[in-house]
Amino acid sequence: MFTEIDHVAIAVNDLEAAKRYYLEVFGATVEHEEVIESDGVAEALIKVADSYIQLLSPISEDSPVAKYLAKRGEGLHHVGYRVASCADALAAVASKGYATIDEKPRPGSRGTTVAFVHPKEAFGTLIELVEEGSTSH
Ligand code: CO
Repeated sequence: MFTEIDHVAIAVNDLEAAKRYYLEVFGATVEHEEVIESDGVAEALIKVADSYIQLLSPISEDSPVAKYLAKRGEGLHHVGYRVASCADALAAVASKGYATIDEKPRPGSRGTTVAFVHPKEAFGTLIELVEEGSTSH
């Protein structure tokens, strides 16, 4: 079902400081930045081959990422896997009886379509299903 790793998401308190770190230490530059109001986050995407490092920081105190940072501190937040069809992948997870966070696909950043699988049965890792483009609903 997975075709590629789309991104590895890292929750950070200070997006500017994290961007500076990746630039100064690894020479890695930000290719895309976006505020996703519905998720209460700002992201900076650093391209690594065909995948991204997604630096993620909250824009409000009630953002899920703000709660995550308060509880667990900075670090790995989720892994996004590319799939051909987010709707089909999500339906496959649900049909096998596993919990999902999203009931149906929704818009992600960069014009993608995304849905999250619950980490409780996924060995503690929040999994995001990412479809390029926003065609399927
Ligand atoms: Co993501």
